[in-house]
Amino acid sequence: MKLQSILLAAGEGTRMKSNLPKILHPLAGKALIRYSLDAVKGIGSPKPVIVIGRDAGMVEKTIQGEAEFVIQEKRLGTADAVKSARKRVEGTCDLVLVIYGDMPLLKKQTLERLVEKQKNNPGPLTIATMHLDDSHGFGRVVREGGEIKEIIEEAHASGKQKEIKELNVGAYCVAEKWLWPALEKIPVSPKGEYYLTDLVGIASKEGFRVEAVQILDSEEAIGINNRVHLAEAEAILRKRINQKWMLEGVTIIDPERTYIEADVQIGQDTIVFPNSHLKGQTVIGQNCEIGPDTIITSTEIGNSCKVLSSVLDYAILEDHVTMGPYCHLRKDAHLAKGVHMGNFGEVKDSFLGEETKMGHFSYIGNATIGKNVNIGAGTITCNFDGRSKNPTEIGDDVFIGSDTMLVAPLKIGKRARTGAGSVVTRDVPEDTVVVGVPARHLRKVKKEETESQEK
Ligand code: UD1
Ligand code: CA
Repeated sequence: MKLQSILLAAGEGTRMKSNLPKILHPLAGKALIRYSLDAVKGIGSPKPVIVIGRDAGMVEKTIQGEAEFVIQEKRLGTADAVKSARKRVEGTCDLVLVIYGDMPLLKKQTLERLVEKQKNNPGPLTIATMHLDDSHGFGRVVREGGEIKEIIEEAHASGKQKEIKELNVGAYCVAEKWLWPALEKIPVSPKGEYYLTDLVGIASKEGFRVEAVQILDSEEAIGINNRVHLAEAEAILRKRINQKWMLEGVTIIDPERTYIEADVQIGQDTIVFPNSHLKGQTVIGQNCEIGPDTIITSTEIGNSCKVLSSVLDYAILEDHVTMGPYCHLRKDAHLAKGVHMGNFGEVKDSFLGEETKMGHFSYIGNATIGKNVNIGAGTITCNFDGRSKNPTEIGDDVFIGSDTMLVAPLKIGKRARTGAGSVVTRDVPEDTVVVGVPARHLRKVKKEETESQEK
């Protein structure tokens, strides 16, 4: 049986009080709508159809290529939203799966169960329901003699109906041929909207038995209507993500205070300390120690690294790199194997070769640094001349004395040494010692000086 999914996302999201469309609000680092897209992926047609409003260009841009878009001209309710997909969907499938774009925690397995149930249903419609004491403002499922008769929206429910504990989750699997004419039969509500939920009453009146799959985990059915719901969903996802990594062999010292976004990867035997925020496309290897108090965004970290109280953005750390506390890696910082950065270091758009050490208070920008270089406390690459950024190149085994100013563009040859407080304005040849302001050549480097720098 061919199946087409339709995601409804044209609502105004007024209750979010936001300039950002509701379904683009981030949840564990991913736009809300992506969760629904992921949930329907692999069920039925390769691309779901998303119903968006006229002004939803931003939505289209964000998820281009992952879905087909239809526009609901006027927001006349959930039934009207499905109607606007008719031209695109009619005659292309046997079953239609309709879900709302503001239900990010619905699991794929639940939708699969829903579809399976409808495949075996002689009637035209299966819905998802759950039992909950707190109604969340959801539609109530009205049964008579056990049979589902209709769904009543909370705004229109009588006192008695409001007490009903079986709620409409908002996921429907419908026979395609039956759907379109049934949508035409839906009356306008006192609110001026056409409710998709009225399909249930229509099917029942036509003598069909409406089937239901029950969702037992009520967390799945959180609909995001305002920012309180957004935070609730975030907490649930955080728990799900942290549990997943703990079961994969990652130690998380305090899961309630560890924030790992949905797309992050972490290797076995890594320990994550509290108040670590792992974001974006970050990938962390095995046996690392991360945090506490660390924010890592879209950074690649090898095995056996230690990152303490630091901020890392779009950087690369090879194996055995140690840093912190209080380091800042900015875009395109690349630290080779065994690099050590001590407190208050900043690196941007630079490569630090194997075993290079920068222990204290340094800024390295637009630099290419060789292996086993010692960068003394307070060293600064003066990379900006007021107009453009200039490069610094430092060869292997160089010793940069404390408080050296490296005025770029600048090349420092292998094994060269700079005295404390030097302001280096001219290239330094290999094996040369320079000192002073501006730095002048003092003498050749002695062999034992370079040797003592190797460990
Ligand atoms: C809806 C259901 C309710 C259910 C609840 C579960 C209806 C009438 N009610 O209520 O029974 O318990 O979801 O979360 O369906 N949308 C459009 N176009 C519109 C109106 C809405 O595309 O004209 C989209 C919204 O973007 C949203 C979804 O449909 O993603 C649901 O709309 P919403 O207004 O959030 O409905 P609820 O009041 O939550
Ligand atoms: Ca909703």
